[in-house]
Amino acid sequence: ARITLRQLLDHAAENGYGMPAFNVNNMEQVIAIMEAAREVDAPVILQASRGARNYANDIMLAKMIEAAELIFPEIPICVHQDHGNNEATCLTAIQHGFTSVMMDGSLEGDGKTPASYEYNVDITKRVTDMAHWVGASTEGELGVLGSLETGEGEKEDGHGFEGKLDHSQLLTDPDQAVDFVKKTKVDALAIAMGTSHGAYKFTRAPDGDILAMHVIKEINEKLPNTHLVMHGSSAVPQELQDIINEFGGDMPQTWGVPVHECQLGIKHGVRKINIDTDCRLAMSGQVRRVLTQSPAEFDPRKYLKPALDAMRALCKQRYQEFGADGQA
Ligand code: G3H
Ligand code: 13P
Ligand code: NA
Ligand code: ZN
Repeated sequence: ARITLRQLLDHAAENGYGMPAFNVNNMEQVIAIMEAAREVDAPVILQASRGARNYANDIMLAKMIEAAELIFPEIPICVHQDHGNNEATCLTAIQHGFTSVMMDGSLEGDGKTPASYEYNVDITKRVTDMAHWVGASTEGELGVLGSLETGEGEKEDGHGFEGKLDHSQLLTDPDQAVDFVKKTKVDALAIAMGTSHGAYKFTRAPDGDILAMHVIKEINEKLPNTHLVMHGSSAVPQELQDIINEFGGDMPQTWGVPVHECQLGIKHGVRKINIDTDCRLAMSGQVRRVLTQSPAEFDPRKYLKPALDAMRALCKQRYQEFGADGQA
């Protein structure tokens, strides 16, 4: 059954757990997430980026999700637009059955240029009004996080992310968050608290806490009715990097967000934790392994099944680690 983000995260808040939100682009990813949820009795957030919608086609995506509802009727599913960039993206998502949309107005429509606060408030409020008219939820974003050009021709999510931006630029201002939610009425708010998108988050093993927990705490205290969202929350596990590199990959050593940091965030009001990179690593490692170990193999099922299995295991682990198991 389909539920909204508001319904799901209200339940998560009442019961003190966090929801991993996994990105979907294809059938194998949808099945991996749903089978993992069934194994541990967890509710599901399936989120699709604009890139996913272009890759899979809106109708194909919508029908795959409908199929998932039929195959897994006992599992509540929230279908969420990840990083919507304008009104059209968000409204067409809702037209295709999405129950929630992220209007990411922290960047202008090009998805690259940091937007003014006024722009962000204005477009997020407009999308939220329209989404609420038809019973969908919204997530907004306030602050600089992930995939932002630093002005030196380098991506914020590339190596050397630390030190490229002033630390304060990477953190959401709690008082501005209060004003933003009051004006826009978003159901959930993505905040900048030290993470970035992609595999290359940190060039050293994080020692000590990497999240700005004081910011999370303060925003949560000031906005008890707004669910906090952590983007860029992949752990980038060493063993998944190792499998890729063992079988012909060439990934430079990197570090992600340790799972215990997400768990700490959940204690302080984080309810949605976005994970895409870890799923990509899990799948790609198995594709590499099978094709390397069996170079004569050419049946896609022979490498996609192990890829699906690896992603299912990853998803199951995150449901359990975030306390979403047993909550469906
Ligand atoms: O935030 C980005 C997500 O990982 C989705 O990535 O835009 O390449 O589909 P994508
Ligand atoms: P990761 O790249 O850390 O998996 O983050 C994904 C994300 O935030 C999608 O919106
Ligand atoms: Na909160
Ligand atoms: Zn994101």
